[in-house]
Amino acid sequence: MRRRHVLTLAAAGAAATACSPPEEPAQPAPSGATGTPPPKPGAAGLVFPAGFAWGASTSAYQVEGAAAEDGRGPSVWDTFSHQAGHTRGGDTGDVAADHYHRVYEDLDLMRDLGLKSYRFSISWSRVLPQGRGALNAKGLDFYHRLVDGLLARGIVPVATLFHWDTPQALQDKGGWEQRDCAQWFADYAQQMFYSLGDKVATWLTLNEPKTVVSLGYTTGVHAPGRKDRRAADVAGHHLLLAHGLAVRALRATGRKGAIGAALNLSPVYPADGSPGAARQAAALDVEENRRWLDPVLLGKYPDGWLDGQPANAPVRAAVRPGDEAVIGERSDLLAVQYYNPAFVTAQGGRVTKHPTTQASWLEVYPDGLFDLLTRIKRDYGDIPLTITENGMPSTNDVRDDDRIAFLREHFAAAHRAIQAGVRLQGFHVWSLLDNFEWAEGYSQRWGLIRVDQDTRDRRRKASAEWYRGVIARNGPDA
Ligand code: FCB
Repeated sequence: MRRRHVLTLAAAGAAATACSPPEEPAQPAPSGATGTPPPKPGAAGLVFPAGFAWGASTSAYQVEGAAAEDGRGPSVWDTFSHQAGHTRGGDTGDVAADHYHRVYEDLDLMRDLGLKSYRFSISWSRVLPQGRGALNAKGLDFYHRLVDGLLARGIVPVATLFHWDTPQALQDKGGWEQRDCAQWFADYAQQMFYSLGDKVATWLTLNEPKTVVSLGYTTGVHAPGRKDRRAADVAGHHLLLAHGLAVRALRATGRKGAIGAALNLSPVYPADGSPGAARQAAALDVEENRRWLDPVLLGKYPDGWLDGQPANAPVRAAVRPGDEAVIGERSDLLAVQYYNPAFVTAQGGRVTKHPTTQASWLEVYPDGLFDLLTRIKRDYGDIPLTITENGMPSTNDVRDDDRIAFLREHFAAAHRAIQAGVRLQGFHVWSLLDNFEWAEGYSQRWGLIRVDQDTRDRRRKASAEWYRGVIARNGPDA
């Protein structure tokens, strides 16, 4: 089953300096959560390369809350989630995990886990309520607090610039269907590079443009709720263009940060040994993977993809000379998000061959991660990789042994890929906290840390305790 088929620049620098964030008291050195000493590295199990970036991920709209505070403007997700019938139970991200107010508590939880890296996203409409123009100093202050707090705890910040929350003000001007949106994004990105670039060393441009295209613009189960294949493909091209323009914008600042896109990728397999299934798998691989990887890493859409199919005429019309070179501007890394494989029949249907989770689209197949990582190396070369999302929802509250088993298997697959020569530098579990899972609202709990839906109190789950040991040993137990 496919997923969730359910229901101006100088001024930026000045503004950033003018509103230096409140300082937090000095932090003790990172230490374990309990008094017990961490196990010796490599005691019994897999050992990852020294410096491996064990991390966790979140995104702004899913955790922050404070939706209308300190001058934040609405995003498409505020609009969408407040409209009847769009999310399970009518849930919204108004409060979410209340991370905006509990940021220091959450930073301490990260330190106690021993996280080396934290991947979060910046809410575009919190820092630019209209999507463009003058920065909202109070909104930007939040990210200074967060980043300073991470650095004080020895945790490396990895900042995503777009995790689906397009400012509503820009949506009102046409959003991603409008070519200008790519430049609006690059301008915002450059404001962030000037404002936070001396502290954030790793930037991710877009989170999962494929999901925006398929769920936001094709099936309409995500914001902005469009159901128009033509609009979807055009938006997809503009998203990729935005990625390339943002990479160029970083280079133009002269800052040293590394930058890349965060792509969700699914290895595609024929469901049986028939030639028809093999053909369908090759075709689906273009849609699932190559349509995104080729432009970003090779600077061109897959051969024949633009002209091959009549249905691609709108995107063909949207691509201007030079666009592919912009999209293919050299990235420093690729952020890989892996959840599920795709098995396809000779008729082009999708079948599931392994157990799924509460999220019915999530077919559990850890070998797919090995196949994906080694394939990227084979077809796209040795670009540094980091996994920025992998995880599962569990209905087992804090005794989430199913999540532990899931992560252990995926860590082992990642380890095998490293042994096979893949330059994998980090693994960020989705997610640090239970949060607002888009159209599913709060019905799915993806966090290592439980967030009480009424009180927002935090409690570490069994998986968090286990992950703390993994990080301390630099690898999972066997
Ligand atoms: C990914 C999204 C992330 C979360 C996980 C479960 O596709 O990037 O925000 O919803 O799925």
